[in-house]
Amino acid sequence: MTLTAENAAARATPESTAGTATVRPPLDPQALRADFPIFERLIHGKRLAYLDSASTSLKPRRVLDAMDGYNRRYTTNVHRGIYTTGEEATAAYEESRVKIARFINAPDPHEIVQVRNATEAINLVAYSWGRRNIGRADTIVLTELEHHANLVPWQLLVQEKDADLEFVPIHDDGRLNLQTYEVLLRTRPKLVAFTHVSNGLGTINPVREMVEMAHAAGALVLVDGAQAVPHLPVDVQAIDADFYVFSGHKVLGPTGSGALWARRELLDAMPPFLAGGEMIREVHLRRTTFNDVPWKFEAGTPDIAAAIGLGAALDYLADLGMDRLREHERELVGYALEVLPREVPGITIYGPASADDRGGVVTFNLPGVHPHDVATLLDRDAIAVRAGHHCTQPLHERLGEAATARASFNVYSDRDDIDRLAKGLRSVQRVFDRPTSESHAATTQASANDLD
Ligand SMILES: Cc1ncc(COP(=O)(O)O)c(C=O)c1O
Repeated sequence: MTLTAENAAARATPESTAGTATVRPPLDPQALRADFPIFERLIHGKRLAYLDSASTSLKPRRVLDAMDGYNRRYTTNVHRGIYTTGEEATAAYEESRVKIARFINAPDPHEIVQVRNATEAINLVAYSWGRRNIGRADTIVLTELEHHANLVPWQLLVQEKDADLEFVPIHDDGRLNLQTYEVLLRTRPKLVAFTHVSNGLGTINPVREMVEMAHAAGALVLVDGAQAVPHLPVDVQAIDADFYVFSGHKVLGPTGSGALWARRELLDAMPPFLAGGEMIREVHLRRTTFNDVPWKFEAGTPDIAAAIGLGAALDYLADLGMDRLREHERELVGYALEVLPREVPGITIYGPASADDRGGVVTFNLPGVHPHDVATLLDRDAIAVRAGHHCTQPLHERLGEAATARASFNVYSDRDDIDRLAKGLRSVQRVFDRPTSESHAATTQASANDLD
């Protein structure tokens, strides 16, 4: 498959395709909600305050229409049918690859492997690159912030290879301790893998600096972009990592879609991950030769509708402008960090103190109330927050909490959602008979107590 006609477009930076220096007005979340059919329904008679976008985002009509169009008008497998609908399906599927490349400024769409989610992308690298390149006593450096998806695959790998894992600790405010990172790099790890933005605390890590330090120490770098691609302009060439992964369902796209970007020379050298149809060039009874990248890593029939839906989601976001989305969420996080401690006495908010250092995530606890009770009671007011360990149990061990509650944002979130959350949390406190008149001095914010 030749994609060269599209490569020039893929090389353009997301922002340069967005246009010139013209300053565009801030996002208008109330108006944008009209694009998301889920808001047409009421939950318990109220408008949904959806504050769980870090878990999965809502889907705009444009995404649903793109998937529906595929399912109704040209449902066909890809790279097979030499007839009209087959060619349309293949073109739409490959077009999504080009859109993904353009969105994260990958130099070449052939470096994009379409996968079902970030978890699959990380497993692909751990199995394929990892099993070939990690050996006995080698070290992989991770961080205390990682989602289980960027931890468990490496645990399995080091167990199998008798290799080691090391972890960059966090300061009490949720930022990584870069001094310790520097010390760990002196052990000459083979790989460093860390999240771009923490799903647990919202911390935006200094990815460019961390990649540079890792490369200087001779390590390759995998960046987990599951919470970055949906919320910030991401430029994989500027970040300069070796692997970058994300999930489509957090970026306004469908479940079952996502991407691995990796340098072409790495993908070429890596053995296949899953084997079967599509990933082959020639199969004989006792030997097989493999397809070119990226198809070598796309065994079996992909989730074609989801891939096409992801392409539509990225178009939608590119039209809105990722810089505007970042600014929108920075403003909302700043508002939440100001309003929640003022309106909800005793609340503990975890993570960096400044919205500048955070993605669209605010994680918190109410003293004496289990986060599951918080989430259940908020649901009565149609406010959806996540409660639990958010697939970051080691991070929660570090925080000394079994669970937390988390509010997270996207294009459709606004100040009214946060005001409703604050009001809802006061009602939760009333239910649990917690005093709401405690002095504000009792309000704790973990970020204020950085002891490191
Ligand atoms: C930082 C991070 N990495 C990886 C994942 C895994 O994403 P998925 O379940 O879509 O594979 C998530 C999901 O919450 C995440 O937040």
